[in-house]
Amino acid sequence: MNTRSKVTLAVFISGSGSNLQAIIDHCANGVIAGSVKLVVSSRDDAYGLVRAQKAGIPTAIHRRKDFPDGAAADAHLLNLLAQHYIELIALAGFLKMVPPAIIRAYQNRIVNIHPGLLPKYGGKGMYGHFVHEAVLTAKEPETGVTIHIVDEMYDHGRVLVQKKVPVLPGDTPDTLASRVLSIEHTLYPQVIKDLCETIIKERSQ
Ligand code: GRF
Repeated sequence: MNTRSKVTLAVFISGSGSNLQAIIDHCANGVIAGSVKLVVSSRDDAYGLVRAQKAGIPTAIHRRKDFPDGAAADAHLLNLLAQHYIELIALAGFLKMVPPAIIRAYQNRIVNIHPGLLPKYGGKGMYGHFVHEAVLTAKEPETGVTIHIVDEMYDHGRVLVQKKVPVLPGDTPDTLASRVLSIEHTLYPQVIKDLCETIIKERSQ
């Protein structure tokens, strides 16, 4: 692969895929020197699959329960990623733990976005509206977005960037979610842009 070719991305989703859409759009308009070559979903009803299909991107449903054991599931996923020459994986609303075998194969090459200021309001079961409800219940003055490298614990790896978002009087989980999500849609593509540029530089070293 030469140093000028775009970075091949996979995006893992479980739901709406609005962050996936932001990544696809920023690849299409040339901001990200990358191209989404595969969308993996843990659910067959994720709307993000429709977004991928509309953009002509291959999709795969990957569920541990469809395999006899974890090793077979991991081997299948690794094979899928290899078939598409995937260099960088972005989790975008992916609700499953990434298996250690995948993390080992993609050290520092898997990123996640979380709708809160980690380490607060993170960990297993702390996603989507659960995060925003917890922030409101605790009467936090601010919340935010965290983008981090994925390691073997939920919402735990090295933080790449955080951006604060104010909590406003009268906020509900829904109003807070939409304010946070609109920040996500610009912040995640920026981080992926930087990661792609780093990968392109590393290829030539
Ligand atoms: C986002 O809030 C993201 O931070 C979290 O899950 C949500 C996914 O939304 N991990 P979408 O599927 O990208 O619309």
